[in-house]
Amino acid sequence: MLPILFMNKEQIKKRIEELKSSINKHNYKYYILAEPVITDEQYDKLYRELLSLEMQYPEFLSSDSPTRKVGGEPLKGFKSIEHPIPMLSLDNTYNFNELRNFDKRVKSLLSADTDIEYSIEPKIDGVAVRIVYDKGLFVLAASRGNGTIGDDITENIKTIKRLPLRLIDAGEDLKDIDIRGEVFLRKDTFLEINMKREEAGDKLFANTRNAAAGSLKLLNPKEVAKRNLDIFIHSFSGKLFGKIITYSQTLKKLEKLGLPIIKYCRVIKGIDNVIKYINEWDKIRDNQNYITDGMVIKVNKLEYCKTLGSTAKSPRWAIAYKFKAKQVETILKDVIFQVGRTGVVTPVSILEPVSLAGSVISRTTLHNEDEIKRLGIKIGDRVIVEKGGDVIPKIVKYDSNSRDGSEIDIKFPNKCPICGSYLVKYPDEVAVRCDNISCQAQLKKRIEHFAERDAMDIRGLGEELVSKLVDKGLIKDFSSIYELNENIVASLDRMGNKSARNLIYSIEESKQRDFFRIIYALGIRYVGINLAKVLARRFRDIDEIKCMSCEDLLNIEGSGEKVAKSIYNYFHNEQNDIVIKKLMDLRIRMKREDETIGPQPLKGFTFVITGTLKKYSRSEIKNKIENLGGKITDTVSKNTSYLIFGENPGSKFNKALNLNVKIITEEEFEKLII
Ligand code: IVH
Repeated sequence: MLPILFMNKEQIKKRIEELKSSINKHNYKYYILAEPVITDEQYDKLYRELLSLEMQYPEFLSSDSPTRKVGGEPLKGFKSIEHPIPMLSLDNTYNFNELRNFDKRVKSLLSADTDIEYSIEPKIDGVAVRIVYDKGLFVLAASRGNGTIGDDITENIKTIKRLPLRLIDAGEDLKDIDIRGEVFLRKDTFLEINMKREEAGDKLFANTRNAAAGSLKLLNPKEVAKRNLDIFIHSFSGKLFGKIITYSQTLKKLEKLGLPIIKYCRVIKGIDNVIKYINEWDKIRDNQNYITDGMVIKVNKLEYCKTLGSTAKSPRWAIAYKFKAKQVETILKDVIFQVGRTGVVTPVSILEPVSLAGSVISRTTLHNEDEIKRLGIKIGDRVIVEKGGDVIPKIVKYDSNSRDGSEIDIKFPNKCPICGSYLVKYPDEVAVRCDNISCQAQLKKRIEHFAERDAMDIRGLGEELVSKLVDKGLIKDFSSIYELNENIVASLDRMGNKSARNLIYSIEESKQRDFFRIIYALGIRYVGINLAKVLARRFRDIDEIKCMSCEDLLNIEGSGEKVAKSIYNYFHNEQNDIVIKKLMDLRIRMKREDETIGPQPLKGFTFVITGTLKKYSRSEIKNKIENLGGKITDTVSKNTSYLIFGENPGSKFNKALNLNVKIITEEEFEKLII
């Protein structure tokens, strides 16, 4: 291959096409077949080459490029889209008798006296979406809406990695493919999203379906891209392909075109065999990383489907068998009240351990007092625990027949179970909190958070040790961590000299962590790691943040009213102020890296960064530029000296092009500073 420098425009265009097609093929092998043939590194190299060519030659940038999956510009609202063929729903049933009746109905409508062949597949618990490819090119995605009119969610669906923007070898017969699928979240992604939401103080999603639906409603596709949505294609409108005569063949054809199809589709003859397969699947469905709430049974022959037709609501050729949520009965032995890092008191049920859908359940969250009242449960009750569309098990009811009068009412405490101070309930919250900042339960959680890997990264300071240190009164706030010494630590139960030395070393090392880490470590409500990074970029030191008014804080990217208030209140609390001062006296770095040491070759230059850089995190490159005398800003203007771009650059790239701002890679930036 010619080096890019020597290529003419025609050759560049050809190379871009080659790269797109090669990356698309590798995506198919990776996402659809799960059989990658190149390493991640080799893939990244192709991707970066394409990205770089598209940057330099935006005239060759096309909407089907695999580099377009990072989410476009925010939208003001969704356009309405009319579905030419309505998006129907399915009749459903929870019992096998009704399934047999469905089979009888099908046979009678078709006047068939032999067994019907069905195409059967798991029913994904997600959100229905319609997708249109025009001549093999992804052009539209719409939500179901009321079945006839939905929202245009093209930009959001585009972010789904497994969904190709161009179909493989789409021939002439593939004009205007109109297909339907289910957008969903994998269980591990869901747990990760909820963990981050908890950290940021946001409301948790109840289940994967709600989380997927909530994500599709976001108006900022970049945010949607972060949610890592997934999709399976399961149906199509009308007859798609000339020679194909069955539903299962159509699915296979769609798969060949590069579309993600559910792996467990089967063609099965006769309703008894269908029921057998449903039972088989029911046994293994919990092992999957996605939630299925049933099975869809479809008549396989497309000609029969046409004869059977549809009612206004649902097709007569298909039915959904829905699994009952898995339930077990056990005994509610106790209810304990846990105090979290922010002081929220959460009731937790203590159960006689039972096995349910692949895991042993011994406790469940009861959320809050209202939930306990709603359930009407008492200690000693036989309770039903369920794991349905929720990854998280929950108590759904108690067995009133087994009550014998010995059951005990659950009393929500009015005092903190740990420190004894009165609990408070704020008018706009369901939660009850302990507001005592020195409460030991909160203190333990706050210290654990402070030492966490993403925060001050104090290795060795985990839950057990924190608990001991707090119980012994050796840790009273963040600053006392830095007053520990080897002898004190070594004298604790189960602590050897070596571990004590390592811990003290790690504590000492943590004093010089990046500025954003200490901001995050302070545990300010709603300030997760991302917002901490934004704050560290924006402000030189803690004092500067402290001086901000609520209005100033509101203008920060990623902030909102409750976030701004929370930051403001944190820094205007006397006790917090004392701790921060102590940390400063202990020489914990509470500011960005020193700005004035060494030569200043970048003085007078302003930089903007877009995309993900290979070598530097955002805070690292920011520190580097600022240490060398340069300035870094968020927006491109005619005063910008350089735009440094990495993988998946945003709109800043085009803006820089329009304003004739110099656009450079990371490597070119490094040459500037040698
Ligand atoms: S076939 C006429 N197959 O379930 C619609 N649907 O409750 C034919 N769903 O609206 C749909 N997994 O969004 C089909 N494997 C699957 C499915 C599936 C989930 C959804 C679909 C439908 C809803 C009905």
